[in-house]
Amino acid sequence: MSQMITLGVSSSISVYKSCEIIRELQKKGFEVRVICTANATRLISPRLFSALSGNRVGVDFFQNEINGKIDHIDWARKTDVFAVAPATANIIGKFAAGIADDFLSTFFMAVDCPVIIAPAMNEVMYLKPQVRLNMDKLKSLGVRIIEPGRGYLACGDEGWGRLAEPVEIVKAIQKALKEKSVLKGKTVLVTAGPTREHLDPVRFLSNPSSGKMGYALAEAALWRGADVILVSGPTHLLPPRGVTYKSVCSASEMEHEVKTAFAKTDILIMSAAVSDFRFADVSQQKIKKEKLPSQIKVVPTKDILKGIGSRKGNKVLVGFAAETENIKKNALKKLKEKNLDMIVVNRVDEKNIGFGADKNRVLFLSRDGKEIETETLSKEEIGRIVVEKIGEFVDEKNKKSGR
Ligand SMILES: Cc1cc2nc3c(=O)[nH]c(=O)nc-3n(C[C@H](O)[C@H](O)[C@H](O)COP(=O)(O)O)c2cc1C
Repeated sequence: MSQMITLGVSSSISVYKSCEIIRELQKKGFEVRVICTANATRLISPRLFSALSGNRVGVDFFQNEINGKIDHIDWARKTDVFAVAPATANIIGKFAAGIADDFLSTFFMAVDCPVIIAPAMNEVMYLKPQVRLNMDKLKSLGVRIIEPGRGYLACGDEGWGRLAEPVEIVKAIQKALKEKSVLKGKTVLVTAGPTREHLDPVRFLSNPSSGKMGYALAEAALWRGADVILVSGPTHLLPPRGVTYKSVCSASEMEHEVKTAFAKTDILIMSAAVSDFRFADVSQQKIKKEKLPSQIKVVPTKDILKGIGSRKGNKVLVGFAAETENIKKNALKKLKEKNLDMIVVNRVDEKNIGFGADKNRVLFLSRDGKEIETETLSKEEIGRIVVEKIGEFVDEKNKKSGR
């Protein structure tokens, strides 16, 4: 069965190029379905899209017959990539704000597949801060933007804002489909969040990890087609839809879950901030304040990564490190000592990034000598970069072993 590309069309003057995009996609063997905004149908007839695509066109879902299935949900489930070309300033704003007041914007809410947006508009509109901010927001949410080119614009002006060429849009769709299956058939185990080492039922030793980085990694691995197991310490986050979720509290509980799942794991990403120490004596009852000892003995917890590194076999191991000084040297030492394939170093010496924050800046080192330093990005973007690098590593490894 051919893959289904849903093409969203909004009311830009470059709407005529949508026909060429449909044709190019069909030449590559894709099935195409079109969803238009009502304003787009004032510039071009949906009948043309229906004739070209061979499928019903979505415009007004309240007018469509409901025969047991609701079109925008049913079509969303069957879509492999959703591309909007051309995308007006208006539809970009609606997508970024989460407005779902017509078929196309509601469809964007309903899809669970890669989304590509190709904006087209007059240069002044394109460079408006509101449009830039909306596009940045969409990018940080994982939407791919195909930046428009510079040139003669259909409105008669010259400048930025010209819809990318149909072949470029089709190439981006093919790339998204390829990326979507990079980790297909692989099981990725991600650990996330802090652990809590209790002294008694109401007191514990922990750290400021929010779990955001690990959850972003789990989501990114899901998006690349992997089966994902997420072992998480206590956080306030909702696990991504589709992961097998294991909730743990202490380092020893985390170790147990990792060991249990390890046999079926192909790639282990240890991003949890596991406590290095636990209390030597744990009370089952709350210790009365007046009876709290003046000194409390702590003992080291087990090093989960090190234990696993020594028997990793053909699996890929990715560790995280939080460093404040001698960043590269310390990370390389950990990479070697724990027999890792890659290490991602969080900068915890800078304000507003890393632990507990929404953003992060990381140094990425691999066993085969690769070194990448990211700029400060959202944890979702960092997650996607890390998983992309893991995908490349797995690919190269497979090529070397002739698989
Ligand atoms: C002839 C014509 C061409 C237009 N071209 C564009 C365009 O290229 N980009 C854009 O953002 N808006 C363009 N607009 C304005 C949009 O159509 C307008 O903002 C509309 O409300 C967008 O609705 P939609 O996003 O639901 O399709 C154009 C309007 C007209 C009448």
